[in-house]
Amino acid sequence: MPQSPLTIDTAETPWVDVYRRLVEIVVPRPIALASTVDAEGRTNLAPFSFFNAVSANPPLIAFSPALAGRTGAKKDTLRNIEQVGQFVVATVTEAIADRANACAAALAPGESEFAHSGLTPLPAERVAASLVAESPVNMECELVEIHRYGSEGGAGNLIVGRILLLHVDQALLDGEGKVRSEHLRAVGRMGGNDWVRTRDTFPMPRP
Ligand SMILES: Cc1cc2nc3c(=O)[nH]c(=O)nc-3n(C[C@H](O)[C@H](O)[C@H](O)COP(=O)(O)O)c2cc1C
Repeated sequence: MPQSPLTIDTAETPWVDVYRRLVEIVVPRPIALASTVDAEGRTNLAPFSFFNAVSANPPLIAFSPALAGRTGAKKDTLRNIEQVGQFVVATVTEAIADRANACAAALAPGESEFAHSGLTPLPAERVAASLVAESPVNMECELVEIHRYGSEGGAGNLIVGRILLLHVDQALLDGEGKVRSEHLRAVGRMGGNDWVRTRDTFPMPRP
């Protein structure tokens, strides 16, 4: 006899349990390493896996810092983008996965994850936030809008940004100017504490 599926009525389930199942199921998730500054220009860096590209024309990306689970407080990234309206998203590669993870530590506002993680800030051209020197891809973005989904812990705040400048390390490119995934070596996020590499690709022509 086939087992009936586990069915979760989200309205009857604590949000943390829904969150745990959700991040196990919506996989693999790309990771935005979001670089921001506060109104005083102090740098901040944090990873976000509720992240994707959402429009090509105009070129938009979106990621979602949740309100803190226990306190409902805004994360520094959200507060900084509200204040400054700009950010940089860097790609997380195998080479910097551990340092990107270190940026998820709860530091005091104004204490920089760059110094804490060992990643290096570089001045951007169009925005106040810094590029991440060790990442081969950095996107300079201006805020388009923030969609807020509640005021309690776990509520997402979808930040949509327009890419102004897209910096790609030339070492990633093949002879046709395409980014080779085996050179990029991006990593993604799975459920729990699991991460994933992007080496196991397979071609399939579009119908
Ligand atoms: C790989 C990874 C992905 C994460 N994705 C998210 C996410 O999508 N949304 C979120 O609110 N927190 C996410 N976090 C947790 C934040 O990075 C963490 O709360 C961080 O301290 C926020 O930093 P900030 O207060 O400087 O903005 C993630 C952590 C890791 C390690």
